[in-house]
Amino acid sequence: MNEYFKRLNAQAACFRLFCLSFLAVWVWVGSATAAAPNADARMQWWREAKFGMFIHFGLYAIPGRGEWVQWNEQIPVNEYAKLADQFNPTNFTPDSWAELARAAGMKYMVLTARHHDGFALFQDGTNTFTSVASAAHRDIVGEYVQAVRQAGLRVGLYYSPLDWRFPGYIMPDLQRQSAEAMRDQYHRQVEELLSNYGKIDVLWFDGGETDWLNFSGDWKGAEWQKRPKGRHYQGGFSWQHDQVYATLRRLQPDIVINGRADMPEDFRSREGYGALGEFDNQQPWELCVPIAGAWGYQPNLKPKPLKDYIQLLAKVAGRDGNLLMNVGPDRNGRVDASQVERLHEIGAWLNKYGESIYATRGGPFLPGDWGASTHRGKTIYVHILKWPGEQLLLPAIPVKILGAKAITGGDASFSQTSNQVVISLPASARDDLDSIVALDLDSTADAIQPLK
Ligand code: GLC
Repeated sequence: MNEYFKRLNAQAACFRLFCLSFLAVWVWVGSATAAAPNADARMQWWREAKFGMFIHFGLYAIPGRGEWVQWNEQIPVNEYAKLADQFNPTNFTPDSWAELARAAGMKYMVLTARHHDGFALFQDGTNTFTSVASAAHRDIVGEYVQAVRQAGLRVGLYYSPLDWRFPGYIMPDLQRQSAEAMRDQYHRQVEELLSNYGKIDVLWFDGGETDWLNFSGDWKGAEWQKRPKGRHYQGGFSWQHDQVYATLRRLQPDIVINGRADMPEDFRSREGYGALGEFDNQQPWELCVPIAGAWGYQPNLKPKPLKDYIQLLAKVAGRDGNLLMNVGPDRNGRVDASQVERLHEIGAWLNKYGESIYATRGGPFLPGDWGASTHRGKTIYVHILKWPGEQLLLPAIPVKILGAKAITGGDASFSQTSNQVVISLPASARDDLDSIVALDLDSTADAIQPLK
């Protein structure tokens, strides 16, 4: 009998071990196939899109001194709120934004659903500081989402957890109740934005980093001090971003988010013309810049020459990033005519040469003073922005070049040795914006390691 039980026990132990190892393998395989490939899959359209439109629109368009006007000029909250009575872009529909983005060759858009001033461009329960409760009585986010979808573009929303109306942002510990009310609003509004408007492709956070609380500083007695780099917020308030992250993935499993709210980011934000930065083909990133001067509307902001934008686009794509270019429409929702004109010119250029930008990856030639390169399949696009002389000398590549064609015009020639690749184009054929030479390879460029 004893023997029988012993054997039974041994068999049961064996069975348990088998089940456990099966479970372990199942969990391991499951997590290995679930996490990373999912992120890659949801990022694929974004990677290919390359170019998007950022829109800063809100009450601040009325005074026309930028989106930080309330803070910069210390306008009392109640006084600033009165602007909502004047917020009424009557002859405007977001279709014109979507059309403009499409004409500019952009593939996605990101609208400030709510900026730091707290004014929401969407229906938010009993909250009266919204475009729906304003003179306009309109759900701008709702109209925008519809227009962008209709134009065949991807839909993005910018959202700032930070709200200047809550002293809890400035003193999260002393004003804990206020900070928590701000957090409630944040959790509620994200849930609304991701529940009420159908599919949303991008949620673009700003000002949600824990280290940004209190503007990245601490109060030492009566004195505010900027926190030194590497020193983190030590207080007791938490945004509880993990809960928002769970909600976000539950409501919109495929949405992609940037990294400004301490959540597992799909892409990183670089901000401003000075932040172009280095080549990075590991961590997806996006450079955002205003087309002219400021994010939120200011009158008479003239754009730069076309060349600056084309070259920036090539430099960003050549560093393996995306470019998000901002317009700040006026109080009537209109974008400055000179900016519209420039955007059309960018679109016309992309119409001709977009094959060297869309759906490409950066490299394999790392960017230099001369320009940058992109590639797709068996083609490398060399964007020559500044000719170093008669010829451009590039490092050797381990695949055979079958031919070279200047897609911007002229007869390009090349030579390839085990030491280098040399490209030339007659001076008369060089394009002042960007001479693009497409190199045809005998195999895919994806396998080539980035080369200096
Ligand atoms: C900043 C600013 C903001 C702007 C944003 C764009 O963080 O606070 O006004 O919306 O950058 O990237």
